[in-house]
Amino acid sequence: MKRIGILTAGGDTPALNATIYGAVQRANRLGVEVFGIVRGFAGLLDSRVPHIFLNPLNSTIPELDPYLGGTILGASRQYIHSDRQDEIKEAAKSVKSLGIEGLLCIGGDGTINGMQPVSEHIPCVLAPKTIDNDLGLNYLDEPNEWSLQEQEEIQEPFCWRRSSRENVELEEIINYATPGFATAVFVVAQSIQRIRTTAESHRRIAIVEVMGRQSGYIALGSAYGQPDIILIPEVPLDVDALKRRVVQLFELQEHVVIVIGEGVMDMECRPLGAVSESADPEGNIVFRGAALALKDILMAEMGDEYFCNRRGHGSAKSAIFTRKVGHSQRGGRPILFDRFHAAQLGGHALELLVSHQNNYLATLQWSREKGIYLDSFPANKLRDRNNVIHPRRVHHAFFDEKLFQPSKLGRQYLKTIFDSAIGAEDLEHIHTDLFNSSHLDTRYQSVNIDMRKRIQYLEH
Ligand code: F6P
Repeated sequence: MKRIGILTAGGDTPALNATIYGAVQRANRLGVEVFGIVRGFAGLLDSRVPHIFLNPLNSTIPELDPYLGGTILGASRQYIHSDRQDEIKEAAKSVKSLGIEGLLCIGGDGTINGMQPVSEHIPCVLAPKTIDNDLGLNYLDEPNEWSLQEQEEIQEPFCWRRSSRENVELEEIINYATPGFATAVFVVAQSIQRIRTTAESHRRIAIVEVMGRQSGYIALGSAYGQPDIILIPEVPLDVDALKRRVVQLFELQEHVVIVIGEGVMDMECRPLGAVSESADPEGNIVFRGAALALKDILMAEMGDEYFCNRRGHGSAKSAIFTRKVGHSQRGGRPILFDRFHAAQLGGHALELLVSHQNNYLATLQWSREKGIYLDSFPANKLRDRNNVIHPRRVHHAFFDEKLFQPSKLGRQYLKTIFDSAIGAEDLEHIHTDLFNSSHLDTRYQSVNIDMRKRIQYLEH
């Protein structure tokens, strides 16, 4: 292949530029030209295919900085649907007119769905990204456990099933960790540490909501911030058990910090908070308000009297507060783990593409011997018998439901990722950059301004 296209689809993560960077650096070595498609699948479906030449004369453009969060190519939640064959053929034709011979898509499960119909016209490989860490499998035959009957009985997207297996081996996990996840956990753990001391001082109950949709990996990783209670979407909320634990902890330490994954559900598998459709045509939903809903539950369960008799709180309402960590989980500078592995995945995905693999994803795997290493996996093997890719859920062996904390295996999993996730450079960056006095005198210079000057269009 002499020229490939690259795009970033779906919600952004901090490591997208690092993935693009890794791919472009590898392309430079192989003498492959890389055209970045602007705004993901939206750019691909635009008949003028807005694109940016990322490595003219075999050298990476200076705007492509692996330390910069977000994506210089722009992202959109627009996807391609297999039932719109005309649209797909048109897109493939436009791309080929640009001399593009293969497409490297950086994304999650929605991107794989979009990539699949395109791969029938032009080879495609995926480099994974998602802060939710939900792209992959706990073990190889996991998709087969979703039966037709279950699909009909329980309506997506709230359906979930408990794995038939009591245990998993870490070495079996397909796509062990996804770039973006580590930085999200880094942000969350710091937020919890900060919220802790204020809850502690004012004798309050803090409820911190974290992202992840139906998967509780970010909530699981929040354990590094030492919250007292972690609630993950994979374990339906047992209000009595939670109340018992909250009271026990409040009596002991006069404050409690609770982390709740945004997709936590009640015993009837209904999301605790409100849900709304996202701008994502893949049908993904946005969970809103799990923390607020939990506050209401605790207020009703514990009552004003409980708090008024303790530490002079006026009401349950004032004693319990909620915070969302929000989009800061998805933005900003990626930490070492994400930067390094994203760049590696980008390079690996490019190699898979130029060696004519099609509809594959580059993956990170883990083994006791090698630690984290690169591999690849056929995208279709993520699908169940009905062709659906389900978000990977935290396996129940990773979580101690009684203690509301990661289990031994869950802690082991986290350690393999986070033991050396932060680099010396990350610390140095805080030291030298945050209170850099030049920030006071200069405005933020958006990379979008420079990239706009580089955009080219297909001439018809
Ligand atoms: O899938 C990534 C994610 O950040 C989820 O964790 C979150 O629910 C969702 O995207 C938020 O989407 P939006 O940015 O469209 O509100």
